This record gives sequence, C-alpha cells and structure tokens, in this order.
Amino acid sequence: MWNLPVLPRVRQPRRIVIVTSGGDSPGMNPAIRAVVRSAIHCGIEVLGSDRGYTGLVEDELRPMNTASVGNILHRGGTVLKSDRCDAFREPTVRARVAQALHKRGVEGLVVIGGDGSLTGAHLLAEETGFPVIGLPGTIDNDIYGTDDTIGFDTAVNTGLEAIDRIRDTAHSHERVFLVEVMGRSSGFIALAVGLAGGAESVLLPDCRIDVPELVQRLNLSKRRGKNSSLIVVAEGHDPQLTARLAGQLTEHGHQARACILGHIQRGGSPTGHDRLLASTLGASAVDHLCADKGDIMLGVQAGCIAAVPLRDVAGLRKPLPTGILDLARILAT
Ligand code: F6P
Repeated sequence: MWNLPVLPRVRQPRRIVIVTSGGDSPGMNPAIRAVVRSAIHCGIEVLGSDRGYTGLVEDELRPMNTASVGNILHRGGTVLKSDRCDAFREPTVRARVAQALHKRGVEGLVVIGGDGSLTGAHLLAEETGFPVIGLPGTIDNDIYGTDDTIGFDTAVNTGLEAIDRIRDTAHSHERVFLVEVMGRSSGFIALAVGLAGGAESVLLPDCRIDVPELVQRLNLSKRRGKNSSLIVVAEGHDPQLTARLAGQLTEHGHQARACILGHIQRGGSPTGHDRLLASTLGASAVDHLCADKGDIMLGVQAGCIAAVPLRDVAGLRKPLPTGILDLARILAT
C-alpha cells in the first residue's frame, strides 16, 4: 500500500468529469469508484464521460453518485465504457471540448488510460489550460514516470494462470509451447510472465529472432532431461511470428504449438494489488485537483505516489527493467 500524499486545499472544483479511455484494464472500475466517492465526500459533483473521449466530444456526460459506483469494485472492464477516439486528436475538437466543459461548470477532469489517452490529456491541458489529472490505466505497464499501472498486475496473473495450464499439457505431451502475450510494442507483460512462469526464452518486441539459437537452447534443455518448454513471445513482432516459429521449431525436431492469449488478459476481476492502486490513485486525483494541480499524471515511484508532468509521460519511453531477461534464462535452465 502507498501513503496518500497530504496536499493543501487551494481550490475546490464545483464539478469534475471522469473518463476511461483507450484499451480497458482491470482496475478501471475501482479507480472510477475512488474518484466518484472521494469527490462526493468533498462536496464535488461528478459526471462520467460515456465511451472515453467520445463522450466529451459528443457531450454525453452522465451524473455519477455513490450508488452508481456500487458493486463495481470487483468487476473488470469499465462501467463508463472506453474507446479510441480519433476526433480527439484534432486541436480544434479539444478546444471545443474545453469550452463545452466550462459551459457545464466543469472545473477538473480525471483521465484513466494508457499512453495515447494520456497524450490526449496533456494536449488538452497544455492547449486550453484545463485542469487535467491522468491516471495510468493499461495492462501494458509502458507508461513513463510510474513503476506500475492499473491493470498490469491482473494481466500478469491472468497470463500466469494460462501458462500454468499450458505447462500441464506441455509436460504430458513433451511439447514446446510458444505463448504470445499482449503489451503492444513494449515487453513488460512478456518479461513478467516469462520470469514468473519459468519460460525457457522470452522474445521481446525489439529482439532479433534467432531460430538456430532457440533450437540450440531447446536441444540443450532436452539433453538435461527437460522434455517440455515454454517460450513467451511479446506481441509487437509481426502478427504471424508465433505460429511461424511453432512451425520452424517443429521442423527442427521439437513438437511445438502456438497459443495467443490476446484479449483474455484485458478482462477479469482486478487483483487486490490493482484495486489498492486504483483506489489510492483515484482518491489522490481528487486531492490534486483540490490543490489546484493539473497537467500531471499520478503514478508510483519507489513505493510512493508521485506526480509526473503529463508532458514527460507523453514524450518519453519507459525502459524495461535490466537484468530480468538474463535472470529468466538462468532460472529456467
Ligand atoms: O494497450 C492495451 C492493449 O491491450 C495492448 O496490449 C494491445 O496491443 C492493444 O491494447 C489491443 O488493442 P485493441 O483492443 O484495440 O485491439
């Protein structure tokens, strides 16, 4: 758990809007609940934007109260719905959105989403001066400025549950399984699932695929008495890679099968970790709006809640942790 930073109350917004945008992630619902209930506790009205930024663009906002976020803490997805809104990429549309929000008496916006959504949040804040707080909500954990994102822990656990099941059948049939996990162009899920799932190899998005080397490693494992193996493949290579590799490894004498986990990782009940993260960040978002802060994202750094300028979040790439790939290799031998 994280300490909630105590901030001076400078300006209490009358009304705020909450948005969930981009790919949904388990934990968005507890985050919505935390924003709504913390705001109401302070006497702030809350509106929910329907289907991400589309709700802002089309002025489809609905009042939220404590009851409207009842019984959602344990549910995956987002009760506000989400989408990837192309219209919001236009500066003129963002200017119109800011005007419409002012007209409705809205004095703060909380955006929960991944890198594209947070970039949109930053542009809105920068161009119009509207107070916006971003929360990192994505299974990918690829957001600069935060060690963790809402949904990552659940997605990793979902991936591990699948891997444990695959391991059973891989063992029975003495097969190699290539398991493809989500993560867009980043490899955080692959790395975590690979290490915690005991994968023989983890093929990260930027890595060169060396089939002879893979075959050599599998041969070596076999000689050591290991008759089944798992290889975790990050999506972000070409879409056919996992199936193609399974074919190539089979040609080299290893019965291999491909399994693409896909959107399974985006659903499901959020873990305790994600609920705690979402609840803390959601409450802190309201505190930051009351402290007259904007154009920031709240995340966690070294065990503490941290505020990061949205400009940095939008512009910088989060590096993968070093040493984990080698560790996964060493532990899997
Ligand atoms: O960003 C979350 C994510 O699930 C990525 O891991 C994946 O590449 C992408 O979204 C899939 O997006 P869509 O649901 O639009 O196909």
